[in-house]
Amino acid sequence: LRHFLTVEGLPRRILTDILDTADSFVVVGEQPVKKVPLLRGKTIVNLFFETSTRTRTTFELAAKRLSADVLNINVSTSATAKGESLLDTQKNLEAMHTDMFVVRHQHSGASHFMAQHAAPHVSIINAGDGQHAHPTQAMLDMLTIRRHKGAFDSLCVAIVGDILHSRVARSQIHALNTLGVGEVRVIAPRTLLPVDIESLGTRVFTSLSQGLAGVDVVIMLRLQKERMQSALLPSEHEYFQRYGLTEEKLALARPDALVMHPGPINRGVEIASSVADGPQSVILRQVSYGIAVRMAVMSMAMGRSPGARETAAKEPE
Ligand code: CP
Repeated sequence: LRHFLTVEGLPRRILTDILDTADSFVVVGEQPVKKVPLLRGKTIVNLFFETSTRTRTTFELAAKRLSADVLNINVSTSATAKGESLLDTQKNLEAMHTDMFVVRHQHSGASHFMAQHAAPHVSIINAGDGQHAHPTQAMLDMLTIRRHKGAFDSLCVAIVGDILHSRVARSQIHALNTLGVGEVRVIAPRTLLPVDIESLGTRVFTSLSQGLAGVDVVIMLRLQKERMQSALLPSEHEYFQRYGLTEEKLALARPDALVMHPGPINRGVEIASSVADGPQSVILRQVSYGIAVRMAVMSMAMGRSPGARETAAKEPE
C-alpha cells in the first residue's frame, strides 16, 4: 500500500477510491481545499529529471495543502551533474529523513527501480517514466471525465495523436478500461501507434473524421518530437491537416463532447486555438483537478487519506 507507479493491473476499487478521495478535496467553486493537516510532519521530495510545468507544480501545491514539507531538487544543479547515480541520490535524500519521492525520469522503469530500493517507510510516486506510464495524469483525466459526464460505462472516449510515444495515453487506456468505459478509440497515423495497441483494449482508427463520429470525449496528445528520430518527424502542416482538431472536425463528435489535452499543447499542430480555448475545452480544468488527485494519491500512499482506508496507491495485486 505504499507506492503509486502505474494504473496497469490495479483493480477498479482502488481507482475509484482515488477518484472519491480526490472528489472530497474539490469543494465549491471547483477549487481544491486550502489546507488540511493530513501530512503534517512528512517530507516530500520532488525529483524531476525531465522538464515539467503542470505535474511538478501541482504536486508541490498538493503537498503544501496537505501540510507536508516539500523539497524541490534542481537536478541540473545537483550532484547528478557530477555523475551521482539515481540510487545514490535516493539513498542520500532518504538519509535526510524524507518520506516520499515524486519522481519523473526519462527512462521507463526508473520509479519501479526506486520503489524496489526504497527504505521501508518511503513511498515512491511515478510522475512520468519514459514512454511507460504517467498514472496521476491518467487519474486527473478520469476525475475530469467523471465530474463532467458521470458514469463511465456509457461513454465513448477517443485519444488522438502520438500514441506511440505517450506514457499518458498508455495510462489513460488502462484506467478507462478498468473503470469500465463503453469504448476507447485511438486515432493516429499507423506510424504513431504501438504494435500492441489493439491488445490494450482499443478500437483503432487512422481517419480523424471516422474516429470522432459520435464520441463523448476527445483527448488530444502532443507530438513528442523529443522522442522521435528527425527522419521520422511528420511535417507539422501536414499533420495538422490530417489530425489537428479544428471546430469543423470537432462538430463530428457529440455536441456536448469534452475536449481534453494533458498539456503542454502545440497550437496549430494537434489542436486549433479556437478549440483549445473554446466552450467544449476542459483543458485548464484538468490542471486544477491535478491538485486534488495528487492530494488524494499522496495522502493515501501515506495511509492518511480523509477516510483513513489505507487502500490507495499500491502496486498491482
Ligand atoms: N501533463 C504533463 O505532464 O505536463 P508537464 O510536463 O508540464 O508536467
